[in-house]
Amino acid sequence: MRHFRLGLLCALLSALFSISLRGEEAGTSERTETVFSAVITSDLHYSARRQEAGLIVPLLPHVEEAMRALAEEVIALQPDAFIATGDLTVSGKEEDAEALSGIMREIHEAGIRVILTPGNHDFDSDKDSYGRNYGFLSEGDLHDPNSLSVLTRIGGVSIFAMDDCTGGSGMNAGFSASTCEWLRENLERERASGRKILFLAHRSVLLDRAVYPESYRIANPELPSILENAGAQLIFTGHMHNQKLLEKGILHELISAMPWTGSYLIGRLSIEGDSILYQTEPIDFDRFGEEGLSEIAEEAAKKAAETWREVPMSLGREKGLSEGELREAGDLFERVISSYQDGVLPAHLEEIRENESLDLLRELIRETNYGPWFEDLLANSGTDASSLSFQWGK
Ligand SMILES: [Fe+2]
Repeated sequence: MRHFRLGLLCALLSALFSISLRGEEAGTSERTETVFSAVITSDLHYSARRQEAGLIVPLLPHVEEAMRALAEEVIALQPDAFIATGDLTVSGKEEDAEALSGIMREIHEAGIRVILTPGNHDFDSDKDSYGRNYGFLSEGDLHDPNSLSVLTRIGGVSIFAMDDCTGGSGMNAGFSASTCEWLRENLERERASGRKILFLAHRSVLLDRAVYPESYRIANPELPSILENAGAQLIFTGHMHNQKLLEKGILHELISAMPWTGSYLIGRLSIEGDSILYQTEPIDFDRFGEEGLSEIAEEAAKKAAETWREVPMSLGREKGLSEGELREAGDLFERVISSYQDGVLPAHLEEIRENESLDLLRELIRETNYGPWFEDLLANSGTDASSLSFQWGK
């Protein structure tokens, strides 16, 4: 895997998107290679009702308008697919699922395949609302009889949108033995037909078992090897609300951030032949959505930043420290958190480690819940998750 400079990647991705679109317009008769594009997101936590502003997600009261803006942008981009990996609504309530399904229908009717997986929140109040409201999106696709897992074929890509909420124990994520069997059989057949495999689920395949509890990851320990054996190199999941990239052997797992936090990111994937390109970019609230939404989103981002800054600052005020030095520590804390949310912490790590306020910040939060978490973020910042580029099969 190689990481490109952002500008170069932007240019390449735009070029590939336009090639992909021209290919679609020109018809498929001369197309021998895979050409596929998708907009990918997760954890929409949509509600048609006005939600309270969350401490970390101040845009929450405007999710209805923001979701409409996102749908408008997706329709304008015209990818082959729009993918959302679970926690589609905040509670799975019928009224919310029904309203979201109306927006999904608009994307679907614009000629874009909408591919969804259920998340734990989609089953909070009504287990059947998911199938009732989103079932029309996967009509004609291959369904697992024992879960809500679906196999969708688009171009040369076989997309396994897996339901990890039905087969786990309690709130934990997992597949039942019969769903595992369904997955194995279908992976084998799709692989044999030379198709590229995308694996989607709400919870993670590759998160470290020693660190993360079972509610964060799919329990089946054999899953990574099932996918590896089937040559399924690309996995998209969610649930964490932060952008993250995990890699193991040939497997690449992108955990998509919630689009209403951090820099309001969505992912754009383009597959042309064996070239895989993925990049995050902010939702364009300036161009899409109702008037004034861009300012609301900007204001919400400022409010979130202020909330994070206040964590060390309020602790320092209790100790009688000056507002000036606390401001520096607050800014640094906010930068670490927002970089983490956007999946770009590794790129800022050097600058953060050299920052003169780091020692003070560490000292201020050491005794709080943020202390060990912050140290862990710095020690295990992981891989830059804002872009990914690799050759399939290599
Ligand atoms: Fe979730």
